[in-house]
Amino acid sequence: MVRHFLRDDDLSPAEQKRVLDLAIAFKKAPLDHQVLAGPRAVAVIFDKPSTRTRVSFSVGVAQLGGYPMVIDSGTSQLGRGEEIGDTARVLERQVAAIVWRTFSQSRIEELAAVSSVPVVNALTDDFHPCQILADLQTVREHKGRLAGLTMTYLGDAANNMANSYLLGCATAGMHVRISGPAEYLPRPDIVADAERIAGSTGGSVVVTTDPAEAAAGADVLVTDTWVSMGQEDEKAARAEIFKPYALDEAALALGAPDAIILHCLPAYRGYEIAASVIDGPQSVVWDEAENRLHAQKALLAFLLESSS
Ligand code: CP
Ligand code: NVA
Repeated sequence: MVRHFLRDDDLSPAEQKRVLDLAIAFKKAPLDHQVLAGPRAVAVIFDKPSTRTRVSFSVGVAQLGGYPMVIDSGTSQLGRGEEIGDTARVLERQVAAIVWRTFSQSRIEELAAVSSVPVVNALTDDFHPCQILADLQTVREHKGRLAGLTMTYLGDAANNMANSYLLGCATAGMHVRISGPAEYLPRPDIVADAERIAGSTGGSVVVTTDPAEAAAGADVLVTDTWVSMGQEDEKAARAEIFKPYALDEAALALGAPDAIILHCLPAYRGYEIAASVIDGPQSVVWDEAENRLHAQKALLAFLLESSS
């Protein structure tokens, strides 16, 4: 059976731990895991812009001994309306895996339903699961563990990052707190899924409109842009709506004294995060960005190994 990674909970708690163990091992010996030797190709397709995801998948596939084929969909027939299923049937005969950044979750589900090779979600409107693997690796490196730690997300709590923190952190047995304005909270079905997972891992889930309640004593404080890709026209309105949820010095002071700061990047200083916080001593955002490389290599190795 082919394994895909479309949402964070496509990995069981044990599988997520295995991927993170592999990521930590791969980081120590970047060229020692030639699982794509041949080279076998991986298609990495973008319907939206990217810096980190593009670079980390390109470098990662090459380090695994493979050939990364990066495609901007605007330069492909997919961008001109070729059917997703037909694209899958063409690609699967030539590549070992398909990585896709696209809009609705239903598009990547449609691809995965047809594809005989692993499909990886490189960000959709609903989830960004590769980012959460890198974030969890970073927390493990800095805190030595995941289960039992409190991770607090402040800001646009209806976006892909908030949803992925809910599922990914619950899978890791963390206490995940998500805080945003009442009109920008996660979908109830995703909260319910996270609660169910947390029930089996010893984690917990809190969704609140009170940012101070969410930040109190947190081991990890995290935020994301208030203006996700495609929302650029709403920038001015969003800057007002999310202001009480900024990860600023006041929010930082509410967390644990040794709290670490994450941000998936790109960051907008003075909006969702203060410059003094992201550039301060508690910030680990550059480790986090580097770990995209290691975590995604580990994920590809895991998916290929468990699909064969
Ligand atoms: N964090 C992240 O996915 O960055 P890019 O949009 O640059 O890939
Ligand atoms: N929520 C952001 C994440 C960027 C990596 C977006 O979707 O644009």
